[in-house]
Amino acid sequence: LSLITVELEDRSYPIILKRGLLSEVGSTLSDMGFSGRAAVVTNPVVEGLYGAAVTGGLKDAGFDPVVITIPDGEGAKTLETASGIYDELIKNKMERSNLIIALGGGVVGDIAGFAAATYLRGVPYVHLPTTLLAQVDSSVGGKTAVNHPMGKNLIGAFYQPKAVFIDPETLKTLDGAELKSGLAEVVKYGVIWDKDFFALLEESAAALTAAPVPTASGDELVKAIERSCEIKAEVVGADERETGIRSILNFGHTFAHAIETGAGYGRFKHGEAVSIGMVMAAELSARLGLCNDSVPARIKALLSALGLPVDLPELSAEALIESMKLDKKVAGGRIRFVLTAELGKVLLKEVDEEELRAFFSVYST
Ligand SMILES: NC(=O)c1ccc[n+]([C@@H]2O[C@H](COP(=O)([O-])OP(=O)(O)OC[C@H]3O[C@@H](n4cnc5c(N)ncnc54)[C@H](O)[C@@H]3O)[C@@H](O)[C@H]2O)c1
Ligand SMILES: [Zn+2]
Repeated sequence: LSLITVELEDRSYPIILKRGLLSEVGSTLSDMGFSGRAAVVTNPVVEGLYGAAVTGGLKDAGFDPVVITIPDGEGAKTLETASGIYDELIKNKMERSNLIIALGGGVVGDIAGFAAATYLRGVPYVHLPTTLLAQVDSSVGGKTAVNHPMGKNLIGAFYQPKAVFIDPETLKTLDGAELKSGLAEVVKYGVIWDKDFFALLEESAAALTAAPVPTASGDELVKAIERSCEIKAEVVGADERETGIRSILNFGHTFAHAIETGAGYGRFKHGEAVSIGMVMAAELSARLGLCNDSVPARIKALLSALGLPVDLPELSAEALIESMKLDKKVAGGRIRFVLTAELGKVLLKEVDEEELRAFFSVYST
């Protein structure tokens, strides 16, 4: 068992990481002082796999659980789906003190958190993340959202959960490509914060991707989840609302979002685009003289070893630049990047369009 705290004064909360934790969530929540009705928000896939373990544990601990399912997939992360969740919460007479439990990947977590932030002006909620991405990234930090037809995550709120319960055993059923996608974010933490962690990932790359899916009992993976959560907790604790240092978590993401848009949503998984984006951000850093060439080389080698793509697909540089200019991180026409100084250390820097164009012209040849 490992316990990490996200330190946010009266909004502080624990991240509990333990194999087999899922069935103990009910009793732990009861120990935390919750009782009565609880709404488990999930999707049909995750419900089929883990719904009974969670609701069984809740019942044993004296809770009265109701399950609310939303359709699987990013397409369901809409206001309309949220509205359907409100209908169920109201129908089931959920009150202010009742708990919402998000059981699933980032989609379920983001929308359940959003519903919790807004239903009755805010009810308590906890995360039970079941994808690697959700365990190392989306369940920690209190960003909740739904998508708008004009763009991803445009409607949302910062609203912290009361706890995050991570059971790495749930990763045993996860698709291998989903697992690799989550590993890209794990690598990100090493690059932005902890060079020893990066080196550890280099040593354990083979174990992390052992075919077909690493046994979730693999210590390397559990350790990687733990260290990732510690780093995210520390960064979020220092800057809850992303007015400063929290933006380093966007390392690789400016390029990644442009690639996702340019290639058409769905062609690359988010983590795959982040993988390519991180290599590009490191290459750009080297080109600007901010770090030496060994930094992008090591990042590229590790991501390749983890089975992630590292090469920019054939996309128009102009289209990528245009798309980056529409990104949230633009200040006065110059695009703001998270760039590498050395492994474990990044900096924020604005890069102008001409520089970027020059970079692309050497990069794509
Ligand atoms: N809030 C944040 O800070 C934050 C950070 C990063 C990403 N996100 C959001 O997270 C979302 C992506 O999350 P995701 O990658 O987890 O995708 P996802 O939630 O769509 O899950 C991926 C797939 O895996 C399935 N699944 C989930 N757990 C499983 C399990 N244990 N076994 C088998 N299948 C399982 C799901 O049903 C789904 O089909 C995006 O909407 C993104 O915007 C939010
Ligand atoms: Zn990401």
